[in-house]
Amino acid sequence: MKGFCLDRLPRPPERYHIETWGCQMNAHEAERIAGLLDSQGLERAASAGDADIILLNTCAIRERATGKVLTRLGELRDLKQSDPRKVIGVLGCVAQEKGKELFRRAPHVDLVVGPRALASLPRLLGEVRTARHLMDLEHYSDSVLYGHESTRRDDPQRACLTVIEGCNKTCAYCIVPFTRGREVSRPLANIVAEVRHLVERGYVEFELLGQNVNAWREGELDFADLLAAVDAVDGVRRIRFTTSHPLHFSQRIIDAMRDLPRVCDYLHLPPQSGSNRVLKRMRRGYTREAYLEKVAALRRALPGARLSGDIIAGFPGESAEDFARSLDLLEEAGFDSLFSFRYSPRPHTPAADYPDAVPIEVQQERLALLQEHQRALQEAANARHIGRIYELRVEGPSARSGGVRGRTTHNLLVHFDAPHTLIGSFTHARVTHGGVNAVRGEAVGSCWRHGA
Ligand code: SAH
Ligand code: SF4
Ligand code: F3S
Repeated sequence: MKGFCLDRLPRPPERYHIETWGCQMNAHEAERIAGLLDSQGLERAASAGDADIILLNTCAIRERATGKVLTRLGELRDLKQSDPRKVIGVLGCVAQEKGKELFRRAPHVDLVVGPRALASLPRLLGEVRTARHLMDLEHYSDSVLYGHESTRRDDPQRACLTVIEGCNKTCAYCIVPFTRGREVSRPLANIVAEVRHLVERGYVEFELLGQNVNAWREGELDFADLLAAVDAVDGVRRIRFTTSHPLHFSQRIIDAMRDLPRVCDYLHLPPQSGSNRVLKRMRRGYTREAYLEKVAALRRALPGARLSGDIIAGFPGESAEDFARSLDLLEEAGFDSLFSFRYSPRPHTPAADYPDAVPIEVQQERLALLQEHQRALQEAANARHIGRIYELRVEGPSARSGGVRGRTTHNLLVHFDAPHTLIGSFTHARVTHGGVNAVRGEAVGSCWRHGA
């Protein structure tokens, strides 16, 4: 009997699995990597166990974020032992933070690829079967360009787009300039082309991303010009952007937010601290007063705009008095939501060597106070929406009510009773009840309610 030659059979496509942590830019990079691998003929696996290639797209912003990656790598060791053909790759900011130390700590890792070198991934996957411990940590200046044609987005209506990468600031606590390198703006024409392409495929909401998104530039053009260019694309319904740095939040951007109909009336503008002394030691480059003046200018132009921020609790040397300034900033700025973090010392940052660390218990206590205070403020702020009618984009089913959830232009999440057939459409609802992180409402003027 003739032998059956297995080598002649076409090999099934390799399957990959991506786990991702961190900011929206990282989440979007996972979409770009997935698209890149799809375009190479690879297939998505259902889980790490089913995958030939396991990629961890990582975040290093706080010690805990890095710790989670190391824990996950520990869990994957057994999987690799039971099937040594599996490829394990660490991508993103922890790859950059730790570099080849990762191979020492976790020898079962095959690939280490920094966040600005992700376009090298298909090449490295081609080489990894014959060579182990491959690494690319270059900060390629064209990293902002790869993968846009093939990005695999799971949301059919809302698309994130990177418009600028990297960070030219030197905040004393932050690892991002180390992991992401110097700023590179993506050309305007390239951004607009992607928006057009996405509009043709049914996308209506766009979120422009950058570590400091409003530092975007192209020659004489600034971020306000970019907003205008995206706003001018027919079919775009909503434009959001994150994260804005206070130093680059200009009157021109405020005017653009007021005058461009599709730009949403919502802003994420992290102050980090309310104390001038701490802001200075953080090297943020602005004062509390300058920050509040930007917020006031926004409110003069757009009184209904909603605002969110980030605050770090327990930065080295933060006194009780300094912390009180952060606490009262919450009220004065009027945040509609807040992301607050306990300070975490990071490698490659100057603050890691500051001698006057705040004890962990004090940091924890301050973090709890910030959260508690913000919770009360937020509840009061959200109650003010009761009775108001807003246009919502219906995003999905509501886990709370069995109905649906929608979002206003100013990023307020509203749960309301309506059929799931409404998901993906724009409708109006009146807010009926407040809440801390979301509110409840009722549909108004929808055809389905009147049996039309
Ligand atoms: N570029 C943005 C922030 C990006 S990092 C800005 O400058 O506003 C996201 C957030 O993580 C920061 O706003 C900060 O609040 C927090 N963060 C960064 N480094 C941190 C650290 N070492 N410890 C605790 N929080 C940190
Ligand atoms: Fe980090 Fe500061 Fe750059 Fe923001 S501006 S990414 S906090 S260094
Ligand atoms: Fe984390 Fe890197 Fe984003 S450190 S927050 S994934 S830029």
